[in-house]
Amino acid sequence: MLLAQNLPKAELHIHIEGSLEPELIFALAQRNGVKLPYADVEALRRAYAFTDLQSFLDIYYAGASVLLHEADFYDMAWAYFERAQADKVVHAELFFDPQTHTARGVPMAVVIAGLSRACADAKTRLGISSALILCFLRHLSEEDAFATLDAALPYREHFIGVGLDSSEMGHPPSKFAQVFARCRELGLRTVAHAGEEGPPDYIWQALSVLKVERIDHGVRCLEDPALVEHLAQTRIPLTVCPLSNLKLCVVDDLVHHPMKRLLQAGLCATVNSDDPAYFGGYMNQNFVATVQALDLSEADVITLACNSFEASFLSEDARAAFLITLDEAVAEHAG
Ligand code: ADE
Ligand code: ZN
Repeated sequence: MLLAQNLPKAELHIHIEGSLEPELIFALAQRNGVKLPYADVEALRRAYAFTDLQSFLDIYYAGASVLLHEADFYDMAWAYFERAQADKVVHAELFFDPQTHTARGVPMAVVIAGLSRACADAKTRLGISSALILCFLRHLSEEDAFATLDAALPYREHFIGVGLDSSEMGHPPSKFAQVFARCRELGLRTVAHAGEEGPPDYIWQALSVLKVERIDHGVRCLEDPALVEHLAQTRIPLTVCPLSNLKLCVVDDLVHHPMKRLLQAGLCATVNSDDPAYFGGYMNQNFVATVQALDLSEADVITLACNSFEASFLSEDARAAFLITLDEAVAEHAG
């Protein structure tokens, strides 16, 4: 087994709706009587030929339409946790997109109940710690984001923070300045997708206007040396998703992926799967493909695993405990 596959790690950028495998989409469609515009699993899989972020999002939102009941959200998240365990993911911070569901009449309570029950079971049955991060869809209005926050606040103890996802171009972080300010007042942790397809200026806005603690993707920071310098000095983490970048044509080939340059610049970059059911791989597949394409060293791999804990929203005690298990796994691999 490669070192990367063997190390304990945290996953910080996984859209739980993006873990819905075609087989589960069809099983839930049948269970719920939802008609899909695809004949079968193979036809759906054939549609996974993306040219950019939007071409993916159209199919991703269609896939999520089978989620109606508490058990559906539970089953989806549970399937993810089982795969995460196989990849030695010991801590996961899961994004969820409530507006995708509330817009179809699914109550916020149903979404959060199913996901949080799976998180609780992941801890007791698999030993995986986890947390939920509520994402606002940036193609919708800030007013809609405020309404979503209000609907979620009765379940405040079930999520640790908020994020910003969906179509990036034309929807700059500054569009959500007020709602992020409110979330910070409420003590929520904050992250935002920026610099996936959008320009470095969107990363600057996420940092200076939204004041986020982490940037999701952020790979386009390399176009702005002052931004790279800022990210290196502050150690604001980037949750990078190599196979996603490949499948959404952010890079034309993994050998051109910026991960190595991000590490060389001293950034706190991490490896993540984004939407693993759509992009061809969970955590370890992302690690293995990136290590091979970029010829990353064992030291790079250890740095990436270490970064995943540093970048997490774990308590200092929990982080320290995971870093000890990481050291032990490294020693065991060497010995
Ligand atoms: N929603 C799910 N995956 C996403 C991605 N990679 N970028 C933006 N929004 C998303
Ligand atoms: Zn994402």
